[in-house]
Amino acid sequence: MAERSIWGSKVGFVLAATGSAVGLGAIWKFPYMAGANGGSAFILPFILMVLSFGVTLILAEIIIGRAGRGSVVTSFRRLAGKAWVPLGLVGVICAFLIMTYYSTVGGWCLTYLFQAILGHATATDISKLEETFKLTVSSPTSAILYQTIFLAITAAVLFFEVNKGIERISKVLMPLLFVLMCILIVRGLTLPGALEGVKFLFAPRWDQVSASSLLNAMGFTFFSLSVGMGIMITYGSYVGHTEDLPSASIWIASLAFTSCVLAGLMVIPPVLAFGMNPSAGPGLTFITMPAVFAKIPFGNAFAVCFYGCLLVAALTSMISLFEVPLAFMIDEWKMSRHMASICLFIALAICSIPAALSMGPWGDIKIFGRNFFDFLDYLTCNVLMPLSALFVIAITGWFFFDKTSYEINATRKRSSAFMKFFRFMLAFVAPVFIVVVALSNFF
Ligand code: PHE
Repeated sequence: MAERSIWGSKVGFVLAATGSAVGLGAIWKFPYMAGANGGSAFILPFILMVLSFGVTLILAEIIIGRAGRGSVVTSFRRLAGKAWVPLGLVGVICAFLIMTYYSTVGGWCLTYLFQAILGHATATDISKLEETFKLTVSSPTSAILYQTIFLAITAAVLFFEVNKGIERISKVLMPLLFVLMCILIVRGLTLPGALEGVKFLFAPRWDQVSASSLLNAMGFTFFSLSVGMGIMITYGSYVGHTEDLPSASIWIASLAFTSCVLAGLMVIPPVLAFGMNPSAGPGLTFITMPAVFAKIPFGNAFAVCFYGCLLVAALTSMISLFEVPLAFMIDEWKMSRHMASICLFIALAICSIPAALSMGPWGDIKIFGRNFFDFLDYLTCNVLMPLSALFVIAITGWFFFDKTSYEINATRKRSSAFMKFFRFMLAFVAPVFIVVVALSNFF
């Protein structure tokens, strides 16, 4: 079989996969999910899930990609046969649906970046900040415009095949983002009353753990690690045989996880110090940060750097999502890369409109009690990703273990105890966990 193009350097793959994992999920979603689900009642289960089935699933997906040498559907067919093709499609659909609301938040990011460039990034009055956020997200023209620009940037990057360039830029900007976050954390923690936030995040309160906080933590685990829709499969299909997959998986999970914890520490302590409600919802990060920027020297310049880095982090994640249907259209429908990126852009620009409008004029349209934005988020994270993860488990853990797991030993032979542990986690722990958490929400 012809080798597909292989990542340029040894760290290239880990970097790209980390670029996918670290994005708005950590900085925008994690703080508000933690805030809305009782802080530690969300974070402690999240930590447990990343360490148990999160890393395992990253490894399983990369294995499928490298063994199957194709996008999610192609790999499923090659490894497991035609009958599995529709199951691979769940991943493709899921990636598409995530993009329809991820781009909305990407649009918010762009708006805040422009505001920062114009010198309007800092403010101290929280109620005004809340008002500004509401205005930003509820105006249909600006929400749709910025979202479409964000989509267009993504499509252009893939159309002109400059994703390698973006990865190179992100090699510099992602560490910078980490440094900026650390500075903001220190500033936030020195605000009076901020330590309450640390307690809220980490002091165990197991009595607050509920079926729904567990389900949300599980959905977020998939979302934050970019597993459960074939991204790691697609990326894995480009990995050369010199890459050690278990250590790559651990790297990806640890960097994604660290960025979440840092973001939590960056946002939640100031939230409590300013007397805001941690369960304020999707606007939490965007409302809080300008007030923190106001409290540091050169706050506005700082904000420009911060939103710039955040935008690049969001773009690398969005690019990875875009790659899933794109690779599918190229491999399965035999479309050219250019044609496929244009079609996908148009489809997304249209299908993303409901998410953009759901914070404004379409806010009252509810599906199962949620607006479009929240419904898409719930459907993808809490239903489709776990479902698609179960298919990955079925292939690598149950039916084709021998046909795929040899990939783990490509660079270094693992002990049989390691292989047994991996199989136990993958074939037993992960599915039981997923099914029990999912079902517990029905009772
Ligand atoms: N993990 C990305 C983030 O945290 C989002 C994402 C989800 C990307 C699923 C790809 C797949 O922002």
